[in-house]
Amino acid sequence: MSVGDVATSNDLKHLLSLRDLDHDEWEKLLHHAQLLAGPRGREPLLAGRRFGQIFLNPSLRTRTAFEVACWDLGAHAVYLQPGTGLWELEYRKDVSMTGAAAEHVQEAIGVLGRMLDGIGMRSFAEMEDAAEDAEDPVLSAVAAASSVPVLNLESAMDHPHQGLADALTLRRHLGDARRPARKVKVVVRWAPHVKPLPMAVPHAAVLAFARDGHEVVLAHPSGCGLDGGVLSRAVELAGEAGGSIEVMHDKDAAMDGAKVVYAKSWGPRYLYGKQDAACAFLSDHLDWMVTADDMARTDDGAFMHCLPVRRGLVVEDAVLDSSRSLVLEQGSARLDVQKATLCRAMGVEP
Ligand code: CP
Repeated sequence: MSVGDVATSNDLKHLLSLRDLDHDEWEKLLHHAQLLAGPRGREPLLAGRRFGQIFLNPSLRTRTAFEVACWDLGAHAVYLQPGTGLWELEYRKDVSMTGAAAEHVQEAIGVLGRMLDGIGMRSFAEMEDAAEDAEDPVLSAVAAASSVPVLNLESAMDHPHQGLADALTLRRHLGDARRPARKVKVVVRWAPHVKPLPMAVPHAAVLAFARDGHEVVLAHPSGCGLDGGVLSRAVELAGEAGGSIEVMHDKDAAMDGAKVVYAKSWGPRYLYGKQDAACAFLSDHLDWMVTADDMARTDDGAFMHCLPVRRGLVVEDAVLDSSRSLVLEQGSARLDVQKATLCRAMGVEP
């Protein structure tokens, strides 16, 4: 069962992928996020509710934003870290559990669902088998086993809270948080790294900016294409919103006239499971780091990145430290957005 199947299989207000949200839900979440950025976001709207966050990978922003959001709204947040703070979990079905995992998500999520009103799950891509990652196996298993809403805190394929926060940040930057005030050229630009990273964030960025009808240019070296299913959905969403998606491999030409440069590194899919070759690919493309000279080609463009970011590798300090950088605004928008998704999950109208 994939996330798409789970998302449509019951009435729980899961938030598993930006692909699943309809237009009204997208607008409502952004509207509520903006509302909850004000005094309403410090009222006990979720008094007595409990939210569990399961992290298989590290986090600064996502975890902190949910803990603070719960505190501000009167709910209680529980942090769960399989393998150290709790039993390592198995998510596959029909396996003999002879490995490190002592508990199956079927029982773990079953029990947590009886104690909590919502569950958040972070599970990055394994990057060994692209077809397996495309099914978002861990998130799908958790959502299928859950009797309460599940929120995706970044999975193999998507990072919906980041996409929502990025859309809200850009709307605010362009002057109107209530709607995409203008349709602008947004370049989602591949960047180098020390190791191949998953595609959840670029997927979310392309889906989010497509939803808001921008002219999205996806710029990456040849061989670094995103998931075909995600791209098809983004093209569909862009069409509905009056926007477009274009793929370019010329990083310089891509910058011309851009109002936003959204940098992110990810690994080439054809090198999944081949760590040394993937690292060699990254080393061969160090010139994709975003520099002040690159930004000079844009139309007074803003710089965006989801964070954490490696200075002097993904982007030059001069860009991050300039007034064009929106990275802190993106980080703080996570709190507003996550208050909105908590309210949605728990059936509370802010
Ligand atoms: N951007 C983001 O999700 O940050 P964290 O990994 O720190 O949560």
